[in-house]
Amino acid sequence: MKKYYLLRNVTTFLVFFFTVFLLDGQSVVNKRAEWFVDARYGMFIHWGLYSGAEGVWKGESLRNDNNYAEWIQYRNSIGHEEYLGLIDRFKWDEIDPEKWVLLAKDAGMKYVVLTAKHHDGFALWDSKASSYNVARHTSPSRDILRELADACQKHGLRLGLYYSHWIDWDHEYGWNHRMEITGIRPEDYDLYWQNKVIPQMRELLTNYGPVDLIWFDMWIHHSGTVVSREQLIQLKSLIRELQPSCLINSRLGLSLKEDSDVDIHEMGDNQIGSQLQDFPWQSPATVSHSWGFHRRDTEWKSTTSLLRSLINNVSLNGNYLLNIGPRANGEVPYEIAVRLREMGKWMEVNWESVYGCKAFELPEGYHDWGRITCRETAGGTRLYLHLFNYPLDNKLYFSGVTSKPDRVYLLADKQKRPLDYTHKGALATISLPASAPDPYVSVIVLEYDGKPGIHEGLVAKNMDGGYSLTPWNRDNSGIVLKTVNKQRRGTVPAYASITEPTVLKWKIYIDEPGPKNFDISYSFQGETGKGIIRVKADGETLSHSVTPTGKTVAEPNSDWVIDDFRSHRAGIINFNNSGYYDIEVEINPQNREEIKFQWLWICRGG
Ligand code: GLC
Repeated sequence: MKKYYLLRNVTTFLVFFFTVFLLDGQSVVNKRAEWFVDARYGMFIHWGLYSGAEGVWKGESLRNDNNYAEWIQYRNSIGHEEYLGLIDRFKWDEIDPEKWVLLAKDAGMKYVVLTAKHHDGFALWDSKASSYNVARHTSPSRDILRELADACQKHGLRLGLYYSHWIDWDHEYGWNHRMEITGIRPEDYDLYWQNKVIPQMRELLTNYGPVDLIWFDMWIHHSGTVVSREQLIQLKSLIRELQPSCLINSRLGLSLKEDSDVDIHEMGDNQIGSQLQDFPWQSPATVSHSWGFHRRDTEWKSTTSLLRSLINNVSLNGNYLLNIGPRANGEVPYEIAVRLREMGKWMEVNWESVYGCKAFELPEGYHDWGRITCRETAGGTRLYLHLFNYPLDNKLYFSGVTSKPDRVYLLADKQKRPLDYTHKGALATISLPASAPDPYVSVIVLEYDGKPGIHEGLVAKNMDGGYSLTPWNRDNSGIVLKTVNKQRRGTVPAYASITEPTVLKWKIYIDEPGPKNFDISYSFQGETGKGIIRVKADGETLSHSVTPTGKTVAEPNSDWVIDDFRSHRAGIINFNNSGYYDIEVEINPQNREEIKFQWLWICRGG
């Protein structure tokens, strides 16, 4: 018999491993997923009996700091009858799913995913397979899914359904984490599967018109729990049979090896993209923290940060599924609705940089001012530069592209009046209006004839007009460096640990000739201090004698002493011409005394 002792932090690792590594090999956008990739932005709706509890049960808050209000039945050990009694708190005459769809539309979202059945096992439709459903317990009887599906049809949004296949706290044999103590026989679990999961999935895919996406929620691989591979294949085959164009997300629980046919790689909860993926993927995300409405949850993310997450994902080929948790009267909490409407206003102006857009071929996070999305048009390519931070000097440095843009304008400007810019080598410098045209994120469009050329391996010019050369953006990545991640809550920065003579190389494009300062940051705790760092550029060499950097107190009154990292002026080099330059740093420790190299900063000087 299998054991079911699963730790949540172990599962976090598994989700990461399972999603990132096992699905990473697939790079073809599945034909079925074309609409999804085009849509980029959808609405998640967590609504069910738990919405009536609002994260509080008999005066006590949810027994878990994660505040997932939809888990209250399990977390606070609520009996079945009492939990079902929550239905009396609902204001059925006020509940109108069409309003959720209208809000999604206002927000610029293209699809909606409703929790048709969450872990509590309660169905939001008129299910014949289980009487534990909304239609049975309302009078006049309501079928929330039918109402939502009709509204989606009416307003032209795609429909997705969240279905908790693995966990079901209602069915005697459905998975419930207490079974980690008691265990469950696989043949009993199969009774739940054959009598509830399969028939309910059949209902969902037969009675509600086209279903565009089934959102499963098993965040671990099936080998870690009771569900068998056969059961998952059976479920997946049923979907393929009944609605061949319906998408399936990766939380179904199969690995790619077992099934190369999953359509969407689902990230972890609130896990925003950090690397480019070719395979369709999406981040499920909340506005506050809980998914279901929680009256004591107040960690509202700002409209700016939500928009940045959406744009960030699109810039890495991903989607963003943003959640609303309506209350028991159907109302969407004000703080959520207001942000969604603000995002919608932004989308009204800037939709072109989101729908149907994808990643551009520069490295992730290449420019410190924001993110780039890309659209291929009949005549060429359009790049959308999203300014998360507006440059103080109103100059935007766009590095890495060697082609000259044909047109440069603000996306918000209907007349597409050209912005002044210069283009040299691999750098366009764009003159921006004195103040940001958009309070959240301003978008600049660059139009190119054909595909713009890229100069690979170049360090971008920073917003401050300098170049930050680090162990991570160097050009000779063939040389193996021992890098150390940031530690102690970021008070110790990331660095490369160097004990042997080492040469690091970068490439930059200098558009403004003249004297440049070279500052180098490192930590040195050795005794002798006889190490030498040489910086070479444009035929000149600067020599710097390594000096001890001492210690610092990282956090007041916390007995928190760490090695200090300090910036030292290595010298000045005069560049007579604009052009591409190789920058070399030669680090020579003495007696293998470690030099913790952090960065080299080059900026206008003299
Ligand atoms: C988690 C939670 C669940 C929530 C989901 C959303 O798996 O169990 O409550 O619905 O994530 O991503």
